[in-house]
Amino acid sequence: MNNFPSHEPPESKFHALRVLKFQVYKLLTGQLSPARKLVAAGAMAGTGLAVGVATGGLEPLGLTWNFAAKQASKVVASTPMKTELVNAEKYKQSFHPLGKYLYLTPQKLGGGTHVVDLDSGKTLSWISYWNYGDSCPISHHLAAYPSPNPYKGFEFVNSTQGGDNVMIYGIPTPIKERGLLEKWGQGNHIYRVHFDGQQMNLVEDVSETTGIGLGVHITVLPDASGFAAADGQKDVCAFFNRAGLTEKTQTQAAFRADWIGRQPNGNMQENWSKGGTVRLTRMVQAKETGKFDLQGSKGNKLNWEMVPMAENLVSTGQLPGDNPRALTGLDAVVHHPGSRYSALILRMMSAAIIIDRKTWQPIACLQNPEGSKDNLKVEKVSSNPDTWDIHFDDVRSVGHEAGFSPDGKIFTMMNNINQNNMAVFDTSDPDPKKWKRITFVKDKTWVGDYPSPFHLCFSMDGSKMFVSVLHPKPANSECCVVDTKTWKIIKKFQNIGPDCQTMAVSYDGKYVFQIFSGFQRMSAGAFIFTQDTLEPLGYLPNFGGHHDCVIVPTKVEHLRNSRCTTL
Ligand code: CU
Ligand code: CU
Repeated sequence: MNNFPSHEPPESKFHALRVLKFQVYKLLTGQLSPARKLVAAGAMAGTGLAVGVATGGLEPLGLTWNFAAKQASKVVASTPMKTELVNAEKYKQSFHPLGKYLYLTPQKLGGGTHVVDLDSGKTLSWISYWNYGDSCPISHHLAAYPSPNPYKGFEFVNSTQGGDNVMIYGIPTPIKERGLLEKWGQGNHIYRVHFDGQQMNLVEDVSETTGIGLGVHITVLPDASGFAAADGQKDVCAFFNRAGLTEKTQTQAAFRADWIGRQPNGNMQENWSKGGTVRLTRMVQAKETGKFDLQGSKGNKLNWEMVPMAENLVSTGQLPGDNPRALTGLDAVVHHPGSRYSALILRMMSAAIIIDRKTWQPIACLQNPEGSKDNLKVEKVSSNPDTWDIHFDDVRSVGHEAGFSPDGKIFTMMNNINQNNMAVFDTSDPDPKKWKRITFVKDKTWVGDYPSPFHLCFSMDGSKMFVSVLHPKPANSECCVVDTKTWKIIKKFQNIGPDCQTMAVSYDGKYVFQIFSGFQRMSAGAFIFTQDTLEPLGYLPNFGGHHDCVIVPTKVEHLRNSRCTTL
């Protein structure tokens, strides 16, 4: 997207204003020659255009000439810059020293994962799950355990999707006709991989060991003692221990969520909106096998996942499956950085069930949409000790990604499509039943389905929240920065690349890495900016259709800013 179209006659007043705006923009982004900087700065002072800079007027037509002139006097002592729109098209490859960090990224449809040394720019190692006999490994999400020296070795867990998920991107593939999925397995593996300093080795397929195949979000526990994974097609999440290199993983607890609409035979559109009950069940392994029976596509309510901003396809009956009516969309678990609580993320009702990991009991349910209650009661179903009900008066919006701030005092979750904002909860009380929604992050451009807040993470000092903002293909997505004191957006990096997904922060507090390209065989890479001054640095090449990224932590504390607390 070009913010400065040139279709007006060059002599027009608007054109002059735009040329000036463009110079201001270039001045801000360091693109103007010294001589032109002087001219532009002088012109800014003379016309009051600096108001535009200070208040976000670099947006096309965001400011009229008269308004600018009238406000000129206020500029001198004006407030700091509120919004800066950065057209990222001009940024080239970054050659900035980025520190000794390893950047781990999955390739989604590429079927593997690779790790890049941010210090040397080399890909240190990679793995491709096809090579291990997986007929459809969609390398989806991942999380890395801390390692004191990742260059010598580290371990990560990687969820992979399978089944019909490969069929939904318009690829003319005979993969189904050839029976590859039936014959060689339906995917949904959870791989545990060890990098030994030279190469990546597949240590274990946790789905095979435990009988639970989960293909979506995956997060390491805050004390690195294990991990959680989830899958919104099955509405199942599970917590696993961290096994030694030669040991097998064990399941600590597994839950399934089911939606019981108020009118069980009513129309699909109203199946969620009229309210109902989320029933959470703690599952047990079969006695004979010691395993769950949830590998591959077993247990799927939907034939393929709800891609971002497609939750409404379920309620309009456009997403087939065995039981879409019972869908909650439980596709993620994020952990409070303290030792006890985790949030089970429900997409269909934009809610988060808070689980106590010491007792494996749910204790509260945060409801995100504006106009709804903020903290719902969890009731034990008396006939079954491992079943709980949560009643929803209404479902005003679907939602998706979520996370806790590194100090654990804030929880936030996106409301998408029906509402387009981020709910912010105060989670500083030790009792999750007292966690309260305090505000919403909003933006005047967040209307309708897109642009829509997507993934999030926090700066190391917690002063800022970074949010990827999705635009539909083939448009480029953006990343915005939210001040965590005011919950206002203070900066936007626009036009980064298609499908901006998760972000990673370097643990020295210096850089933010915004990965882009999710699932669409389009351009891919990582866009970098500074955590403190929010200066864009440019791009890093990164091969593959990424859906996630993480910098390998070197200390357990780094998990507070890693794939543990946020998605
Ligand atoms: Cu995903
Ligand atoms: Cu997600």
